[in-house]
Amino acid sequence: MKKSIAILRGDGVGPEVVDVAIKVLDVISEKYGHTFEYRPALMGGIAIDTVGDPLPEETIEICKVCDAVLLGAIGDPKFDNNPSATVRPEQGLLKLRKTLGLFANVRPVKLYAALKHLSPLKEEKLVGVDMVIYRELTGGIYFGKKEKSEDSASDLCLYTRKEIIRISRLAFTEASRRRHKLCLVDKANVLESSRLWREVVQTMSKDFPEVDVSYLFVDNAAMQLILNPSQFDVILTSNMFGDILSDEASILGGSIGLLPSASFGTSHRLYEPVHGSYPQAAGKDIANPVATVLSVAMMLRDFGLTEEADALEAAVGFCIDCGITTEDINPDNPNKCSEVGTAICNVLIGEKLLT
Ligand code: IPM
Ligand code: MN
Repeated sequence: MKKSIAILRGDGVGPEVVDVAIKVLDVISEKYGHTFEYRPALMGGIAIDTVGDPLPEETIEICKVCDAVLLGAIGDPKFDNNPSATVRPEQGLLKLRKTLGLFANVRPVKLYAALKHLSPLKEEKLVGVDMVIYRELTGGIYFGKKEKSEDSASDLCLYTRKEIIRISRLAFTEASRRRHKLCLVDKANVLESSRLWREVVQTMSKDFPEVDVSYLFVDNAAMQLILNPSQFDVILTSNMFGDILSDEASILGGSIGLLPSASFGTSHRLYEPVHGSYPQAAGKDIANPVATVLSVAMMLRDFGLTEEADALEAAVGFCIDCGITTEDINPDNPNKCSEVGTAICNVLIGEKLLT
């Protein structure tokens, strides 16, 4: 198989974790006889610093013609701490999502048995935790009209029926492939937009009689994720609630450094770790590359390369079981980011973990 992949290394630890992911892809291509063509492009703070634009036109063009986009992370504190900054790395990511029509963001949350001790929750609460968050990604408060005057500012949360239907259909379909449970998270007791989500989901549930639908207000959902996380199978939610809940859900397994994600629409696909650019760790070779490597596994699965994706996920699991992990997981005796990458590659090739 021949595939082209746009590579957006981004900011902070982005370049390091993406370089590990590329090494892994090289090993997969060699072992299984595929050709992956990498097309690097600039996005985020690095693009602002280099060409003054967080998402240069050239990057959009490269992403559009490639079969998939692999993104590291974007963000830099020098912009965060400056409320009057007019260009920000995040604008690049948001514009890319919108331009490529990536309306669905899928964030699976799985736990590794060997890492249970790292979870802030008691072990008995973790039994059976296996959920996936379907976050709407190109609408809602992130993209509504923004206004600012001297003494006030506003961000509009607008959803159209069409936007809700297309993500909901994907979430229902996923629920019917999984454990047949879908939970819509909203704030329908307060927000009109949430009431439209409820209406759409209630209507659609008639087309998916095998799916058991529940509804939670987001404040309660935030609590339930900690109190009883195994109740969730598919969580369906809007852009901002999904952003917040996926960070919350990511720590159930002990580290946000483990969670992959895929974003897609009708014609493009982007894969990125859930974690951010972790600027304090940039250049130190200490970031956890697993979330990015698992994002690559999601990419391979979407390419139809099931055996390759399974092998990669198994290799990651094996390294975790063997204790080859970065300092977020093993602060006393950590491996470097690049070493974890080497170990995953070696498992794939069938060699010793670290040579
Ligand atoms: C995420 C990130 C982004 C978001 C930021 C970087 C704009 O937090 O992908 O979860 O809020 O969507
Ligand atoms: Mn986020």
